[in-house]
Amino acid sequence: MNYNSRIITIANQKGGVGKTTTAINLATALAAIGEQVLIVDLDPQGNASTGLGIDRRDRSVSSYDLLMGTHTVEQTVLPTAVPNLSIVPSTMDLLGFEMEIAQEADRVFRLRHALGQASLCYTYVILDCPPSFNLLTMNAMAAAQSVLVPLQCEFFALEGLSQLLETVNQVRQTVNPSLDIQGIVLTMFDSRNNLAQQVVNDVRTYLGDKVYHTLIPRNVRVSEAPSYGKPAILYDLKCAGSQAYLQLASEVIQRERQRKAA
Ligand SMILES: Nc1ncnc2c1ncn2[C@@H]1O[C@H](COP(=O)(O)OP(=O)(O)OP(=O)(O)O)[C@@H](O)[C@H]1O
Ligand SMILES: [Mg+2]
Repeated sequence: MNYNSRIITIANQKGGVGKTTTAINLATALAAIGEQVLIVDLDPQGNASTGLGIDRRDRSVSSYDLLMGTHTVEQTVLPTAVPNLSIVPSTMDLLGFEMEIAQEADRVFRLRHALGQASLCYTYVILDCPPSFNLLTMNAMAAAQSVLVPLQCEFFALEGLSQLLETVNQVRQTVNPSLDIQGIVLTMFDSRNNLAQQVVNDVRTYLGDKVYHTLIPRNVRVSEAPSYGKPAILYDLKCAGSQAYLQLASEVIQRERQRKAA
């Protein structure tokens, strides 16, 4: 992989917090402004692949083959309906990965190795993780330069977040010393809910400028889009959720500029 690529893993061990929705729509927004973007679907559920309209019959090779080292990125990547956005899809085969690879010394570094070997140039590589700290998520954390954390605006959000930050620290001390926090994005925000506003305030107090200004609203168009195999941004560009993801992408790019300048 070109060393100019920014590899970002979208992670949170909690299920249903908006990881995949963020992966798909952030990637689409980045691609729409001309970045070359790759998504690697690392979840056996394959929600990112389905949400980007990849038919199951077209997933003859997948991220499983990439992790097993039998195929390269070039051999597993598929185009999507979004120009500049490609995906390495996933299949249920990934469920077996952990068991099959448990004894291998390099088991955490499979993805890093595969991405390192790739000759295609992407400015952003987005890794969509399953809801657990398993070997798939560890491969993502070992391969990535940074972690982007979607946090659902609800009561238990902060509790899960401290566990996640602790895991990132452990990863830094062991397999990936340069792993950074890309940012925290608050998802499914409902302005009519007082508790949601309280969570936003708490997270901002606790994590300061690591938290993106953009709040992703709870928006029915965003939840409908995957059933049409489309990112929300293609399904309904004007809806509040799509607009929020475009705004998030511009914050991500702005921070990248600042980081590079520093
Ligand atoms: N902003 C939003 N507004 C409305 N619904 C949303 C929004 N973001 C996500 N959802 C819906 O919430 C559900 C969970 O979202 P998503 O699949 O992105 O979470 P996830 O963290 O990837 O889940 P998992 O842990 O199972 O991988 C989905 O049905 C999705 O369509
Ligand atoms: Mg998901």
